[in-house]
Formats: sequence, C-alpha cells, structure tokens
Amino acid sequence: MLAARYCWRRRRLLRAISHTKSDLLVLGIESSCDDTGAAVVRGNGTLLGESLQSQTHVHLKAGGIIPTVASELHERNIEGVVNSAIERSGCDLDDLSLVAVTTGPGLAFSLRAGVEYAKQLATRISKPLLSVHHMEAHALTVRMNHDIPFPYLVLLISGGHCILATVEGVGHFSRLGQTSDDSPGEALDKVARWLRLDLHPRVCDLPGGAAVEVLAREGRAERVKLPQVMLHSRCCNFSFSGLKTAARNHIQAMAAQSGWHGDGPLPGCEDVCASFQQSVTDHLLTRTYRAILYTKGTNITQHTKGTNITHLVVSGGVARNGYIRSKLQELGDLTGFRVHFPSPHLCTDNGVMVAWAGVETVMSGGCDRVYSVERAGEVDYTPKWPLGQDLSQRVIEQYISTKKQRVKI
Ligand code: KG4
Ligand code: ZN
Repeated sequence: MLAARYCWRRRRLLRAISHTKSDLLVLGIESSCDDTGAAVVRGNGTLLGESLQSQTHVHLKAGGIIPTVASELHERNIEGVVNSAIERSGCDLDDLSLVAVTTGPGLAFSLRAGVEYAKQLATRISKPLLSVHHMEAHALTVRMNHDIPFPYLVLLISGGHCILATVEGVGHFSRLGQTSDDSPGEALDKVARWLRLDLHPRVCDLPGGAAVEVLAREGRAERVKLPQVMLHSRCCNFSFSGLKTAARNHIQAMAAQSGWHGDGPLPGCEDVCASFQQSVTDHLLTRTYRAILYTKGTNITQHTKGTNITHLVVSGGVARNGYIRSKLQELGDLTGFRVHFPSPHLCTDNGVMVAWAGVETVMSGGCDRVYSVERAGEVDYTPKWPLGQDLSQRVIEQYISTKKQRVKI
C-alpha cells in the first residue's frame, strides 16, 4: 500500500518534470570509478555542455586504481567539473528539470563522492534527483544519437564488467551471461602493466587497453600462443583470468630469455599485445555469437511482446577498441544483426551517458528511481548492483553450439 502510494507520487513527480522531449533538461553526474564527468543533455538528445576529468595519469603511475586516491580526486574535482559543464551548456541551474547521478555499481567511495555532491546540489537548487545504474547508462547511450528500437542485445565490456544482456526497455534488462572473474578491461590493463607499456614512449599516456591496441598493430600474434578460453562450456559467461595467467607466464619466459628486468617495455611486447587482444576478441565473439543464436531461437521478449531481436549494441571502455569493433561487425554481417557502437568518446565513462539515462527514464515513465527534493536525502549508493534478471542458466540449458560459423580472427 505504502509502495503503491510512493509510486503514484513519483509518477506525478515525473509528469511535473516535463511534458515534451525538447523542454526536458537533465544534468548527469558520473563518478563510479576513476573519471569525474558531468553533462547537460536535452530530452531530444542534444548535448549542450560536457566536462570530464580523467584520473588515468595518476593511476597509470601507481600501477592501478587506488580507491582512496580515486575518491579524493573526485571530491576535489567534482564541483569544477559540474560548473564547467553547466557553463558550457549556456544554461542556468534553475533551467534544469532534474539532476541524474550514478548510484552504482562501482567503487564505494567514488560513488559516494558523486552521490553526496548531487544530493547537496539538488537540494540547493530544489530539483528532483534521479538514481542511475552505471551499466544501464552504458547500454542506453547509443540511443542518444541513433534510432535503435527496443528490444536489442547488448555487450558491455569495460574495466569493471563483462555482460551480455537483452534490453527490452528502460529498466528491463536480462543477463544472458557475465564474467566469473576479471573484466576484459582489467585483463588488458594488467597485461599492459606487466609489459611495462607505461614506460613505452609512444603509449605511456594511454589506458592499458588502448596501449595494447596501438602496439598490437605492429605485432605478430602467432608468435605468442595463448589458450582458447572455456572452449567446451556452452554458456554466455566469460572468464579472463586463465588468459591473463597464460600471458603472464609467456611474459616471464620472454623476460628470462632476453634478460629483461622491467626497466623499459618488454622487447617483443607487440607480439604479446597482438596475441592477447586476439584471444580476448575471440572469447567475446564466441559468447556474443551464442547470445545471438539464443535470441534467434528463444522467445525471451516479455516486455516487447515477442518482437525479434536484430540489433546488437556494444558499449563500455573496451568497445573503443577498433579491432574488437571490426570483428563484432563481421559477426553482425554473418548473423544478419545490425551492430551499433557509441562514438569512442561515449564508450568510456562520462556524464553524458548518465544525463541521457535520466532522459530515457523520464520519457519512459519509470518512477522507482526518481526522488523529490524532500526525499533527496534517501538516495544512497550501491557498489554491487546486478543488471536486471539473470537468465544465464537458461542459455546453458539450450546447449547451443557455435561451431557452425566462425569469424576469422
Ligand atoms: O567503461 P570504462 O571507462 O570504465 C569502467 O566502467 O570500467 O572502461 C575503462 C576500460 C579500461 O580497462 C581501459 O583500459 C579500457 O576501458 N580501454 C580500452 C581502450 N580504451 C580504453 N580497451 C581496449 N581498447 C581501447 N582502445
Ligand atoms: Zn563504465
């Protein structure tokens, strides 16, 4: 009864926020990991102003993200980032319809920095506050500039996640598979570190995955043999830790052979980069192919009334990778799926995706994540927050082989 009353109130609040797409104006705030981002987006998808402060350089030097350092930097930078997004948008804070903020999943203290700031701001300017799921935002971003109808399949590949899911609407996600250990971004970052690419003059400023991509173009993958991952399990789940360990063993063997002590990038690192990137891509492809076959053979669309899925969206930081993009595109051509990627800049964490997720939520009438000014204090952060419902067991039960067709790697 109480829940129904809250929902009714929230619906009324949503109706009050905006009537048309063009008069809706959302400020999005992102701080779930190591990027502080803010943006102002109009309901029709026009980006009015954005600001992003990356911590990549700091964490590259430290050899990985240190959560306390990340949260300290968010706290220091967030006000400036939000102010500059507002300034660039040419809007007044008063013009905003609402403030949207990432409340999870992510690093606890990083999330807290963004959520606490958003709560204070929303209270100060008397605007409603909307809680955004970080991975939902990654999955929806592409709809800001492309007309992609629900339902679609999404592959989310980032520094913290690896998920295959169906998207039937805002807040209607079903996971077909996810990683049981590392994410592809984490694995790429580790390999880049072991190869000491942070000491490589051409790629030292890039995040690990991007550095691997650049050097892989000059390497010969066949010189570094890595195992195929989860060859016999017929699921859409992922695992990158075995691949990571195999790469580490290879690096150690190469180091022993050449007498390398880590005082510069490993000689021959290009070959490791090429091989590792290929193996990661191969693993992503087999799982995505199985997910495509699953969606073709099973009626899983509950909210979109049996509509066939024919679109694949790929997002998250690792989706910036040109090689991975090209191979997923080939998979789309092979299976008749249309493949979409956000622009590279919108694949990694940013405030735009949070603002756009806010727009999508309001326009879809989703009421359970919007808080009136009086209730803004109730908004909390959720470091562990699974995306939608888990259907991975159902995929396994279908026992789908992916041997028939294969994209050449
Ligand atoms: O989505 P994101 O910005 O943050 C998380 O939510 O995790 O993703 C960051 C990840 C990092 O692991 C980074 O190395 C990876 O994205 N990345 C790339 C590329 N650019 C960034 N991985 C592969 N190729 C790239 N070009
Ligand atoms: Zn992300």
